[in-house]
Amino acid sequence: TGCRREWIAVDGPAGAGKSSLARALAKALGYRYIDTGATYRAAALAVLQAGVHPGDPASRSRIVDIVRRVRIRLGTDPRVDLPSRVFLDGRDVSTSIRSLEVGQAASTIATIPEVRRVLAELQRRMAEEGPCVMDGRDIGTVVLKEACVKLYVTASLEERARRRAKELQEIEGQVPVSLEEIEEQLAMRDQQDATRQDAPLRAAEDAVTLDTTGQTPGEVLERALAICRECLGDG
Ligand code: DC
Repeated sequence: TGCRREWIAVDGPAGAGKSSLARALAKALGYRYIDTGATYRAAALAVLQAGVHPGDPASRSRIVDIVRRVRIRLGTDPRVDLPSRVFLDGRDVSTSIRSLEVGQAASTIATIPEVRRVLAELQRRMAEEGPCVMDGRDIGTVVLKEACVKLYVTASLEERARRRAKELQEIEGQVPVSLEEIEEQLAMRDQQDATRQDAPLRAAEDAVTLDTTGQTPGEVLERALAICRECLGDG
């Protein structure tokens, strides 16, 4: 089969602990870490900064145009602390893309097939550069279908909201938001990501599901590494 041993796909809903796990896995295996959500967020920031409403159907062609034109570059060193380094046209936007507003806008432009095509091509090119752990929503189902190891990471909505709140607290200059508001936004985003026509959020048929509710990052990493060893058959 066309299975690619140097690729590990990590998918799941917002706040499930995907990026922490993907980063830790990459570190443990000596792979690069590619955060595809960051590419959607950077593209969404470019749209917002151009003064275009991400959800306006009349602006679709302008949105696609902006996404085609911008240059998005990601830091892929898993040893770098969160959040990952992200550059938009050479500017460091690593922290500004982490707001709730940009997350929601990212989810909204991610429903546009042309936007997905442009960003998936970028992600695929990055993966071709060498071994990597890639996280997102459609990595095991679309972007890196040939990945040998596919993990689908989930957790309860309450726990995901708590984790997201903690993450947001750690970002400087972030306006405080209530847990209820975060929960509501996550549920909205999940709904939008899971019901879109093109590459919706779902577990690949050959993915292993990891429920991280009530588990420490160390415990999750250990389970994931065991799955990798089993799939790759060598340890
Ligand atoms: O993982 P994240 O919260 O940074 O992702 C932000 C949004 O980007 C998410 O709500 C949907 C979209 N996204 C996507 O459609 N496909 C991916 N592979 C990654 C993210």
